Amino acid sequence: MVDSIGMRETILKEFAEKNTLLSPGAWEYLDSVEDPVSLVRKMVKSSKKLPFPVGRDSLESFVEPSENSSNEKSEKKVGSYPPAVSEIRIDLDITGNSTCTGELEDFTNYFLNRYHKLKTILGKRREAKGVMNIRSVKKRKGQARMITMVGDINTSSNGNKFLTLEDPTGKMKGFISSDSKAFNKDILEDEVVIAIGHVWGKKDKFDTTFSIEDIIRPSVPRNGNNRKKEVDGKIAFIGDIHIGSTTFLKDKWERFLSWMESNDRTVRDIKYLIIAGDLIDGIGIYPNQEDELEIKDVYEQYRILGKMLERIPDRINIIAIPGNHDIVRNMEPQPSLPDDVQALFPGNVIFSGNPSLIHIGDIRILAYHGGSINDLSDMLPQVSSDYPCSAMKEMLERRHLVPVYGKKTPVAPEKEDLLVIEEVPDIFVTGHMHKTEVTQYHGTLLINASTWQDQTDYQKMRDIHPDPAKVIIYDPDGSKVDIKKC
Ligand SMILES: [Fe+2]
Repeated sequence: MVDSIGMRETILKEFAEKNTLLSPGAWEYLDSVEDPVSLVRKMVKSSKKLPFPVGRDSLESFVEPSENSSNEKSEKKVGSYPPAVSEIRIDLDITGNSTCTGELEDFTNYFLNRYHKLKTILGKRREAKGVMNIRSVKKRKGQARMITMVGDINTSSNGNKFLTLEDPTGKMKGFISSDSKAFNKDILEDEVVIAIGHVWGKKDKFDTTFSIEDIIRPSVPRNGNNRKKEVDGKIAFIGDIHIGSTTFLKDKWERFLSWMESNDRTVRDIKYLIIAGDLIDGIGIYPNQEDELEIKDVYEQYRILGKMLERIPDRINIIAIPGNHDIVRNMEPQPSLPDDVQALFPGNVIFSGNPSLIHIGDIRILAYHGGSINDLSDMLPQVSSDYPCSAMKEMLERRHLVPVYGKKTPVAPEKEDLLVIEEVPDIFVTGHMHKTEVTQYHGTLLINASTWQDQTDYQKMRDIHPDPAKVIIYDPDGSKVDIKKC
């Protein structure tokens, strides 16, 4: 692949002759194709004027559509914009791009878009060789493989699973025996996977069933991303501040602000601060919340936070996404905070949606508040709400932030499913669970970004123990992580 020095130089030369070069995303894409040099030459020899830099989308437009790949041309990403700070770019932000009206058609389009996006990711796996659509699979007997969305799943009294398999060409019954390899892979409804198995039943009969022996998920590359991260300055992560709550940890927050104002060696190097949602406690988020509020006006909660953040030096760029306690729609993806709230904050705060893909230099940070972590811990035995990163790993495996529709996490059926994890992030940060956790999964750094709220009565009732008042600091130089306890 393009890891070979000779090949990399050939590609660089081809583009240099056309006065352009490749973006980091385009290099990553070339790593995933079989013959990168041929693809590059095809592009260079075309009569089209090449963009500067050449991005992944441009390269993809020169790939021949094969029988196994999606015929749907991927649309331009919504919510992509550069804030005023030149080294920051934000993608996947729904702000100003919502199309959802709640019509039945919205749901059909949403699931179709989800299917096509995940099919594109799965289509690059070696296991996708020979996949057929459901219409073709139903016309044959014996071994087959397909890229399918999973519908209803029912478990029989003896433990076998019966499921509906679906793609744009039709539906088919699926079966997973309790002693198959596929059974232990915890398939969830709405997942898009490669199903490998064999066909039962007679040709063209409605009761044809696909017996699944194994399933392959989109996942993320095991060897990770070894790019050298060219970013000047450290990136700090915090979350779930919950201003307005009676359990807001004033003293510890004050220690945080004093530290940020100080001349501490670590602080001097911090250039970015990412806040993973729940800036305030809000009001009316859960029954009788008023009893646990010190400030009962959401605008006042934001005004106080805005004033506090003025103490953070201007040289630090703050990027804040909302959470379920903030004053935006509760359905994901959530837009950024409204303009009248943003006006209460200093100029070094950039607001974006939940989720957002934040590019700082060539580092890709997927910031998601984390609403679906609770759903995943309810559905999957290997996920624990005490260890939110266990849920984040499952999201990366499924390449979706809310893998199952219709559980506790409300999802808006937008035309484009922005909850699909199309680009593998270097850093994936969530909040919501009020834990402090840092781990690595296949080359992606996973962070759950602590909280500034002490245990609430509701959390006491549910035996939830927060791990508050910690700042996670990532140093791109050597990819080191520090945790500062305030
Ligand atoms: Fe929270």
